[in-house]
Amino acid sequence: MNAPPKTFHVKSFGCQMNVYDGERMGELMTAQGLAVAPDAASADLVILNTCHIRERATEKVYSDIGRLRRDDGTRPMIAVAGCVAQAEGAEIARRTKVDVVVGPQAYHRLPELVADAARGGLAVDTDMPVESKFGRLPARRRVGPSAFLTVQEGCDKFCTYCVVPYTRGAEVSRPFAAIVDEANALVDAGAREITLLGQNVNAWTDGDGRGLHDLIRALDRIAGLARIRYTTSHPNDMAQGLIDAHADVEKLMPFLHLPVQSGNDRVLSAMNRAHSRDGYLRLLDRVRAARPDIALSGDFIVGFPGETDAEFADTLSLIDAVGYAQAFSFKYSARPGTPAADMAGAIPADVIDDRLQQLQAALNRDQAAFNAASVGRRCDVLLERPGKRVGQLIGKSPWLQSVHVIADASIGDLVTVDLVHAGPNSLAGEVVARAAA
Ligand code: SAH
Ligand code: SF4
Ligand code: F3S
Repeated sequence: MNAPPKTFHVKSFGCQMNVYDGERMGELMTAQGLAVAPDAASADLVILNTCHIRERATEKVYSDIGRLRRDDGTRPMIAVAGCVAQAEGAEIARRTKVDVVVGPQAYHRLPELVADAARGGLAVDTDMPVESKFGRLPARRRVGPSAFLTVQEGCDKFCTYCVVPYTRGAEVSRPFAAIVDEANALVDAGAREITLLGQNVNAWTDGDGRGLHDLIRALDRIAGLARIRYTTSHPNDMAQGLIDAHADVEKLMPFLHLPVQSGNDRVLSAMNRAHSRDGYLRLLDRVRAARPDIALSGDFIVGFPGETDAEFADTLSLIDAVGYAQAFSFKYSARPGTPAADMAGAIPADVIDDRLQQLQAALNRDQAAFNAASVGRRCDVLLERPGKRVGQLIGKSPWLQSVHVIADASIGDLVTVDLVHAGPNSLAGEVVARAAA
């Protein structure tokens, strides 16, 4: 027997969808009457919302759980949520002491599971119910200026290195009306920008021919909403309608995160990406034709099994050809249960390290060049948080760059700014006016 918890703390790892899920778990526990604890150390219940994407992410969960033990030998009630919970289930309790294990499609049941755990024993739910968790979560009440909204979950692509199709299940799109309702609720709760989320967000469909661009056009009509973004997209789901929306929906920000992973066709095929290097580059040409100033972002994996020096060089040359505004790069991590984990040709760690360094040098160079080229531009910045200096506020440009300003303005304001100075990771701006919303 444990006393039922009165306070809780949620810690999310991994992708933005986990951040969104973590917020919704928090809202759910608050609706149950629990209070938010300032940190994990003082909470009665700690919810670890975990990521399974790479080995290091998974191992982090176990070290975090170890650190929750207090000096007097006690520990909080521990709930493991997210993708490690889905992948490992009750096995987690064999390695370490936890009370609740709940998967990403079952967290609407957290209150019952916590109550079960308080009665003693382990409470587990990793079902992927047909009826959606979303209908059973409390309404959105208070959010910051930039909010996430999950519209699509799961993945049917089965890239050979990736656990997501197993941890998040098959591609499921939320209904059109439910999404528009939630967007309205987010705007009423303070959001000025909404980022539509999905593992393959551009695969969203209402099953009746409507796609993500129709959703974007519906959100465009919400007064009070200033900006729309979406992530993460797959190259093969990039419909012409979505590209067209970049040309004529003013609220849709000129930014596209479109992972490619490798610039070499043999590696792409071994990864089961189902697109070629050339197909990706031609797609970006079409996107740029629709929106010439669009900022591009990507994900890369180095050291996929069998990747040769020449194949890796193709990734570097693709980066040169695209000129990314920013990007993420990862060392390949073999994941249990994925086809790539059984492939021959493991790349030695020192070669992977060396390739990652070369790749990141190229990406950093391009990011710095993109930022430098932004100096002199006038743009709107949505102020999202205070900076370190007195009177300083930090927000985002349309191209998702961090911009800091000194201004007599508030968080949530959209201000027009002249970009005057570029650093490697952010820009400085001078406010010229408060933008019309
Ligand atoms: N659905 C998205 C993102 C999936 S996970 C997409 O397909 O683009 C985010 C990124 O993690 C991937 O784009 C990939 O670059 C990286 N990733 C996934 N599995 C990995 C693995 N086993 N090792 C290293 N990086 C991986
Ligand atoms: Fe993973 Fe590929 Fe699906 Fe992205 S598209 S989630 S990398 S399987
Ligand atoms: Fe990680 Fe799951 Fe997201 S594995 S990247 S938290 S979908």
